[in-house]
Amino acid sequence: MNTTTLIDRIGLLYTGDPEQEEIADAALVLEDGLVAWCGPAAEAPAADERVDAGGRAVIPGFVDSHAHLIFAGDRTAEFQARMSGEPYTGGGIRTTVAATREAGEAELATHAYSLVREMRAQGTTTVEIKSGYGLSVEHERRSLEIATTLTDETTFLGAHVVPADQDADSYVRLVAGEMLEVCAPYAKWVDVFCERGAFDGDQTREILSAGLKAGLGARVHANQLTEGPGVRIACELGAASADHCTHLTAADVDALASAETVATLLPGAEFSTRSPYPDARRLIDAGATVALATDCNPGSSFTSSMAFCVALAVREMRMTPLEAIRAATYGGARALRRTDVGWLRRGARADLVILDAPSYVHLAYRPGVPLVHQVFHGGLLL
Ligand code: NIG
Ligand code: FE
Repeated sequence: MNTTTLIDRIGLLYTGDPEQEEIADAALVLEDGLVAWCGPAAEAPAADERVDAGGRAVIPGFVDSHAHLIFAGDRTAEFQARMSGEPYTGGGIRTTVAATREAGEAELATHAYSLVREMRAQGTTTVEIKSGYGLSVEHERRSLEIATTLTDETTFLGAHVVPADQDADSYVRLVAGEMLEVCAPYAKWVDVFCERGAFDGDQTREILSAGLKAGLGARVHANQLTEGPGVRIACELGAASADHCTHLTAADVDALASAETVATLLPGAEFSTRSPYPDARRLIDAGATVALATDCNPGSSFTSSMAFCVALAVREMRMTPLEAIRAATYGGARALRRTDVGWLRRGARADLVILDAPSYVHLAYRPGVPLVHQVFHGGLLL
């Protein structure tokens, strides 16, 4: 017999399950790493062990569907320059590539692990991790191999930028050819930074199509700095997610509203590059599925905090607190095409956060305050 654990006296449970999103005075029963029961505390079945939530709120563990954690080096000076008025161009990616290539494997792995630990302590229980600071066959492979030790959600981003010393056409051929072949065994997803100065529409299509053919799912860095073809390509190719979505035309919004492709918004990037935020209201009102993620990376968004992104989404992007928590949990799971995480209902993985607050609204209402009381990952208390 498996041990069962009752989490009792939950003041407000945000389940993430569209069928019953919020339950007041709730309880959960965990068994074998999964949610075995969820409902009003008064109806809870008996269990072997009991955790008293003391009237606190409970949410599903955050699903951070966009992060770049395999890197070395520091870009504090670039951030400082931006805060003195310099624009963000993505050019600093090459600085991180140089530092990442220099670093040893153990150093990269230890650093990435410390970022994952930082995330978990803040309530993130699923994280996607991209390569993209190696940009050679061996350096990308190495980054992805490290990523596989930290998550199942690994993304091959050989097409982050064209390396300083290479010609764009031959680099695209390399990424879609040998680099993809070597990296695919370590990756679940393929991603391209589709942007002026990075990869254009044709190059993006070529690389994503090759990735799809190799059995990977597609995701796209789309429309971050300028309007462009990224979002429409993502929708056409059935990508799981178009990420950033900061500069959208009406046609882009329509495409996202009618495709399966999730619009993943990364407000940490707009915050840290002092840029205008994406128009979340327009996307939600059009019927698109929206996710929130950190984009944790050393250049445009060096935060590991999903709670911070929720607060930004509410204050700066006019999402309601309910829309923001939904996007940070259920939305992130949709962006990774996962049905076992991002919500708390019978059969889901027992990934949850007990907040030191009576409601998930406090994530936005008390910005910057550490509100994580306890985190359960696969039923285990972290
Ligand atoms: O998602 N835009 C492309 N990639 C990252 C930034 C990478 C960097 O500046 O190092 C992003 O914002
Ligand atoms: Fe990114």
